[in-house]
Amino acid sequence: MNDDVEKQNNETGGREKGQTGLIVYSSKTGNTRKIAEGIHRGLCRPADASQGIVPSIRLAAVEENPAPSGADWLLIGFWVDRGDGDQKTLQYLDSLEGCRIGLFGTLGAYPNSAYARDICQRVQDAAAKKNTVLGCFLCQGRIDPALTEKFKNLPPDNPYAMNEERMKQYEDAAKHPDEGDIEAAVAACRSMISTAFLGMEH
Ligand SMILES: Cc1cc2nc3c(=O)[nH]c(=O)nc-3n(C[C@H](O)[C@H](O)[C@H](O)COP(=O)(O)O)c2cc1C
Repeated sequence: MNDDVEKQNNETGGREKGQTGLIVYSSKTGNTRKIAEGIHRGLCRPADASQGIVPSIRLAAVEENPAPSGADWLLIGFWVDRGDGDQKTLQYLDSLEGCRIGLFGTLGAYPNSAYARDICQRVQDAAAKKNTVLGCFLCQGRIDPALTEKFKNLPPDNPYAMNEERMKQYEDAAKHPDEGDIEAAVAACRSMISTAFLGMEH
């Protein structure tokens, strides 16, 4: 074994580049935390059990303000608050520099809507100011029933008043995130990471 590899193995416990990561999430009502925990479980399973390489991935809430040092990549989870990424996530993103960042988020609206894509783009732009962005995954998340009640009580001429279309969207959101969302999130994150570290096994 040459000296460099030996040194790297000593430092990383034998891990290859791309196997050390940090997952940070912001979550008010638990949806984004659920996705973050699912991604953590999914990615901690070795990509190829025969290799015996176990990735080292830390999971932390944004309130812990985890330092990114030593992480090959970060996955950062946000929830959509009034048409944008939540404040805690945006502040955390602002504190990062020179990191490779994949994003994931949950929202009440449909994730494949133009509205959702715009928000995703804005959060990606915020992350890309001083970092490299690897992509963004979105899924629906159950909306706090207290908020639903508030909308139900608005007068009909209010632009946010409840209507049939909104009610249907709220009911659909209430079924998420589900196991399918978690599987899709793991696959999306795996792909973001492996694109950044070409040659890494899926
Ligand atoms: C105060 C508040 C504001 C929200 N604003 C939006 C919004 O502007 N657009 C949207 O699609 N969903 C909105 N939602 C729904 C949340 O983004 C969604 O339920 C998300 O999954 C919550 O994530 P969390 O459980 O991790 O906090 C809002 C929810 C709350 C409680």
